[in-house]
Amino acid sequence: MLNLSGKNALVTGIANSRSIAWGIAQQLHAAGANIGITYLPDEKGKMERKVEELVAPLNPSIYLPLNVQDDAQIDRTFAEVGEKWGRVDILIHCLAFANKEDLSGDFSKTSRAGFAQALDISTYSLNRLAGAAKPLMTQGGSIITLTYLGGVKVIPNYNVMGIAKAGLEMSVRYLAAEFGSQNVRVNGISAGPIRTLASSAVGGILDMIHHVEEVAPLRRTVTQTEVGNTAAFLASDLASGITGQIIYVDAGYETVGM
Ligand SMILES: NC(=O)c1ccc[n+]([C@@H]2O[C@H](COP(=O)([O-])OP(=O)(O)OC[C@H]3O[C@@H](n4cnc5c(N)ncnc54)[C@H](O)[C@@H]3O)[C@@H](O)[C@H]2O)c1
Repeated sequence: MLNLSGKNALVTGIANSRSIAWGIAQQLHAAGANIGITYLPDEKGKMERKVEELVAPLNPSIYLPLNVQDDAQIDRTFAEVGEKWGRVDILIHCLAFANKEDLSGDFSKTSRAGFAQALDISTYSLNRLAGAAKPLMTQGGSIITLTYLGGVKVIPNYNVMGIAKAGLEMSVRYLAAEFGSQNVRVNGISAGPIRTLASSAVGGILDMIHHVEEVAPLRRTVTQTEVGNTAAFLASDLASGITGQIIYVDAGYETVGM
């Protein structure tokens, strides 16, 4: 039943081969989905070339720039997706950003601008992308975002990103309530700590990973592929009764009190 053939899946958030979004895109492709990729453009076009090379084995039928802070670019992207595909079935929101200086030290020192930017990119973008995809999700579908335990419990140095993830998890519930009548499910995956470009900005990330390896029930952290497998499940008809949920893919760490 885990068959995504005939489904159009738009995946955001691939920066390199360590990206969780890359793990997700590969598993959606393995399950038969038709893949579209967006990347964060930069002035020199470096990211465009780098990501294009990485994702080539998945034969993406859509490859477009998307900075979630740029409303015109969001509208252009979804207009093009609508023209090419006519329909979106799966939307993967797998991106976040906060200034490095806001990811260590005292939370009370977070600047107004840093707070606004972190929540704009990491939280509001789910709402904005879901809204843009909504008219294209005409045959039901699945929207999946990525969150972390730091949005529920205090994790050292996660700071403003914890606030962003708390908002993101609540957005999942509000969007699930809104989109349910058109049979679009909205869920979050709360992944255990994984070494990536984004996580390397969080102070003490390696200590966090080592701690999880010591105390998580599975005595290890998780891989991008394991997160990708859960995303493929949530995107499929196997998960047809699941919406508004946060699913932990964290080797069981969330269950441990001490
Ligand atoms: N790595 C972890 O330990 C971990 C754990 C739980 C959740 N997550 C979440 O997983 C998601 C993916 O992060 P990752 O760890 O794979 O790191 P990553 O650095 O590979 O991915 C982050 C992505 O966000 C994109 N991005 C940043 N600003 C953007 C913007 N303005 N517009 C469009 N894209 C933008 C980057 O280009 C990058 O592709 C994030 O939401 C992150 O919070 C990560």
